[in-house]
Amino acid sequence: MRQTKKKATPTGRGVRSAPSLKSARVSKKSRSKINAAETLKQDKNGLEVINDIPNYIRDGWESIPPNERDRLKWVGVFFRKQTPGAFMMRLRMSSGFSNSDQFRAIAEISEAHGPGFVDLTTRQQIQLRGFTIENVQHIWNRLEEVGLGSLQTGFDNIRGVIGCPVAGLTPNELFDASQVCREFTKLFVGNKEFTDIPRKFNVGITGCLDNCTHTASQDIALTPAVKEIDGEKTNGFNVAVGGKMGSGGYTPAQPLDVFITPKEASVLCGDITLIFRDHGPRIARNKSRLAFLIADWGVGKFREELERRRHRKQPLLTAGKDARGKKKTDHTGIFSQKQPGLNYVGLVVPVGRITTTHLFEVARIADEYGNGDIRLTQGQNLIITNVPDAKIGDLTAEPLLQELRYDPSEVMRGMVSCTGIDYCHFSLIETKERAMEAIRHLEAKLGNTKPLTIHWSGCPNGCGNHAAADIGLLGKKTKIDGVVTDAVDVFLKGDAGANPKIAPKLLENVPCDELPQVLEGLIPYLSRR
Ligand code: HEM
Ligand code: SF4
Repeated sequence: MRQTKKKATPTGRGVRSAPSLKSARVSKKSRSKINAAETLKQDKNGLEVINDIPNYIRDGWESIPPNERDRLKWVGVFFRKQTPGAFMMRLRMSSGFSNSDQFRAIAEISEAHGPGFVDLTTRQQIQLRGFTIENVQHIWNRLEEVGLGSLQTGFDNIRGVIGCPVAGLTPNELFDASQVCREFTKLFVGNKEFTDIPRKFNVGITGCLDNCTHTASQDIALTPAVKEIDGEKTNGFNVAVGGKMGSGGYTPAQPLDVFITPKEASVLCGDITLIFRDHGPRIARNKSRLAFLIADWGVGKFREELERRRHRKQPLLTAGKDARGKKKTDHTGIFSQKQPGLNYVGLVVPVGRITTTHLFEVARIADEYGNGDIRLTQGQNLIITNVPDAKIGDLTAEPLLQELRYDPSEVMRGMVSCTGIDYCHFSLIETKERAMEAIRHLEAKLGNTKPLTIHWSGCPNGCGNHAAADIGLLGKKTKIDGVVTDAVDVFLKGDAGANPKIAPKLLENVPCDELPQVLEGLIPYLSRR
């Protein structure tokens, strides 16, 4: 069904224009040296693709020039080479905060225009699949009604801001940092000051003491800390910068020796992003992340530049006392909230793929047993919040909780998988179904194990965070007896929390067909938490 032509808008919020950016960006003269992505950004601001949407809706997906297919990612619409004409849309949900109205809208959209399921991602967001360009405006309109948008969720933009999904609810937090995630998101979404940065940019902001968020892999990591200011103990964040997972592999963020109060934190994140915009490398695509600017300048120079940029404000404070504990959590299970008599219930969504039937059911359950809030985790799972003690028994007896379990096996609980070959053309192997096969095998052979995380990435881009898992699986092709075979390299004991550790490679070229047996042999010798 074609939609009527009207001015396209993915969020209903106006796009703010940028004053001329005083920056060290590449001049037209030196374009010969820069990569295609830079040319794309110089030729036209990515957000302006919004003006072309009515034409694409009228003329169909084949009319979209290849460059513009990339530019569509500024409005969160992704052309998929695996399924030409069937698009993906990524929805922004800071700290993974959502609710039953949003789940119902997403389910309706996926049922009407998609394949009847969506994916929960490791940035606590949702990816809609399988819709035609003709329906994009209709989808945006429906999303806007429930306060959702897709702006700037792909390409060289600030991605969904991650944070503790039970911020404001868990007793184990220094303070509720979700407001800072929202403030920072409000600062840059629709703001052209932030839409021409050298590369993707990941930000994690958390007050959780239980290390539920992969902060060390973020370009900016704000973690809970305490500092004495004017004789008073003040809660706030320590700041680390330059973490990444891709572009040559995992580089943990480096401490900047800065303490910032929650009130000032979103502006500080903005200032750091603008330093990256103005000084970040733009020549080689695989060397353009903030980590490379930090490597070039050193943390000291970066801190000086940040201080200079804030010259009219207070000088930067040195780091406070790190408040994070040693424990790690994923918030799966039933836990008391800080609000007396209330609980949150973390449910596992196997490999993050959830059907529309289940989305509707989750929405009903969130309304019936909680206050309608639903939170998404970095482990591709979800949480129902504000469930009174008296309703816990009935909630756990709901048939849905036999499928999305609060008490899964440990292998099910810790399994994360990137999209894989069905929808991602980079993928060298199928991932989600293979992960499910491994879960079924390990549950049958090992029963319950000690807690562990197993993360799959279908290619070296590493979207499944395989370098930060207890067991990391990286998809590849290998030749066995002359036959090209799906395989993985196996990495062990990575960590992107308070004690970052890059996982070393343990095994190479393990055929996927043999992997369940290999994991069965390996897992009894691993332990954690
Ligand atoms: C050149 C490097 C990379 C490329 C080309 C790339 C490409 C992609 C693609 C095509 C998808 C969407 C697939 C689909 O579901 O249809 C995706 C999703 C995703 N990627 Fe990557 N990726 C890269 C690096 C990374 C890295 C280093 C990370 C961090 C671990 C990462 C994190 C994610 C996440 C979290 C998603 C899910 C969507 C979200 O919540 O933002 N990617 N990536
Ligand atoms: S890791 Fe590779 S295969 Fe998986 S989603 Fe990212 S780019 Fe695609």
